[in-house]
Amino acid sequence: MCAEKESSKQKVVLITGASSGFGRETATLLAKSGYRVFGTSRNPERNRAWGYEMIPLDVRSDNSVRACVQGLMERTGRLDVLVSNAGYELAGAVEETSIDEARDQFETNFFGTVRLVKTALPMMRKQGGGRIVLVSSLAGLIAIPFHGFYSASKYALEGYAEALRHEVKGFNISVSLVEPGFFRTNLASSARSSADVIDVYSGMRGRARRMFEEFVQAGDDPGIVATVILSIIESRSPRLRYRVGKDAKRLPRIKAIVPQDAFEAGVRRNFHLDR
Ligand SMILES: NC(=O)c1ccc[n+]([C@@H]2O[C@H](COP(=O)([O-])OP(=O)(O)OC[C@H]3O[C@@H](n4cnc5c(N)ncnc54)[C@H](OP(=O)(O)O)[C@@H]3O)[C@@H](O)[C@H]2O)c1
Repeated sequence: MCAEKESSKQKVVLITGASSGFGRETATLLAKSGYRVFGTSRNPERNRAWGYEMIPLDVRSDNSVRACVQGLMERTGRLDVLVSNAGYELAGAVEETSIDEARDQFETNFFGTVRLVKTALPMMRKQGGGRIVLVSSLAGLIAIPFHGFYSASKYALEGYAEALRHEVKGFNISVSLVEPGFFRTNLASSARSSADVIDVYSGMRGRARRMFEEFVQAGDDPGIVATVILSIIESRSPRLRYRVGKDAKRLPRIKAIVPQDAFEAGVRRNFHLDR
């Protein structure tokens, strides 16, 4: 009875993609901080968690999202915080990428969030408020060569969140974007590549991918992103955008002030592209 009462006072959090990286760090930190956390994975059996419960979810499926959120509501009666984090990296030249590959990137990185938010909003409105945190990327502010559709999916998230925030503000629901730079997670090691290969791109594609992997491997500690997400959830008035990590803070500022061609030259140099 006491334990039931205790859990009924806890704020309920749903974090997608909690088997790895930012999702796992955030779920662990929030559980330690007293939240009742549900993390998701496509394989919750294989990805057992400590301190929070893992439930099945594939964000590409309407049915899976509905079953996940409804199942959670039946057990808890509320959803206070949604952290939409699940995502993957698709690498390849834009010309090499098929429509199906591009669509799949958007199904996870963009429409996955759209599905979750659409399912969560009626519940948050009914209960009088909530917090929505969407994990975007530095790639949603500066596009990464040979990651055109990954970047486009994150740019899409940026525009979507900016509009949504205005629409739900009056219902006491906040919408925030977390924009991490490069962080040491499994993002690069679990990346997918476009199946088609066009030889003229091979040299540049290889170098750009290698640099992306090196930036992720040399990146910041993903625990920093978890700390920022906790601070958003606990803030009285969360902002729209949170840039996290040294690159995410520095590079958009440089992009805003230097001439466009100088900035482009810097990107080409960093990813070792042909002049
Ligand atoms: N690491 C970085 O440098 C960086 C920088 C900026 C933004 N981000 C963003 O941060 C988010 C988390 O990535 P991460 O870096 O933590 O990578 P990660 O370690 O590879 O974790 C990705 C997570 O997404 C889940 N996932 C992938 N596809 C899914 C699907 N269709 N349905 C449900 N879950 C799915 C995976 O869960 P299962 O495989 O268990 O289902 C996994 O838990 C992504 O949106 C990524 O774009 C990362």
